[in-house]
Amino acid sequence: GQRKKWVVGNWKMHGRLADNEALLRALASGAGACSGIRVGVCVPTPYLAQVEAALSGTPFAWGVQDVSAYTHGAYTGEVAAEMTLEFGATLAIVGHSERRAYHGEHSELVAAKAQRALQAGLTPIVCVGETLEERESGATQAVVGAQIDALLAKLSVDETARVVIAYEPVWAIGTGRTATTDQAQEVHAFLRARLLGKHAVLASVPLLYGGSVKPENAAALFSQADIDGGLIGGASLKSQDFLAICAAA
Ligand code: G3H
Repeated sequence: GQRKKWVVGNWKMHGRLADNEALLRALASGAGACSGIRVGVCVPTPYLAQVEAALSGTPFAWGVQDVSAYTHGAYTGEVAAEMTLEFGATLAIVGHSERRAYHGEHSELVAAKAQRALQAGLTPIVCVGETLEERESGATQAVVGAQIDALLAKLSVDETARVVIAYEPVWAIGTGRTATTDQAQEVHAFLRARLLGKHAVLASVPLLYGGSVKPENAAALFSQADIDGGLIGGASLKSQDFLAICAAA
């Protein structure tokens, strides 16, 4: 297709300097698996300098798992997009379901974070997805549609053209229960149509799938018409698995 494939690791709240060093060294030396695709890792903020040192000059990009909606100021505990730029970050996940569920983030805040990231020059990876209860009650499209609409309401078309969207069904995250290729493709096609409803240039927005992606299921997922790669949690902590997923993209 016309869209490049993306594979982004989300380490979540895992890591220690020594473990990271081994993982990063393995990624850097396995970079051959990544030719022709966009690859990156989103790491705990304290490790940005370590990751910059290890991945500079490799195909891997890096970034953070959240970013403040504010530029600077009295926002205790927040991390500004510009701070991450000083460590070479180019990516920022925003609106991950874990932040929505455990930190009270709503779609308007997520859109503001995405916009702030864009203004700073970061590529936001905006996460959307439904819970199991929402899926079983037939509300999947209403839920992810509303999440996307909040983004489209806040961002200009030009801004939206520079985001990456990740569809992560909450019931598939860290559960080993991957969405079937048909289930994932169906929601991706819906999201694609929603973006196209806003403007034709949004056909180029990468739509990543996340939720128990593994070396065994990556190729089938990534071969779907509207799936442009993956956002990888658990498997991104194991260099062999992560590189195998990159090779499948
Ligand atoms: O951001 C990544 C997702 O939450 C997926 O996590 O691959 O461990 O299921 P997982």
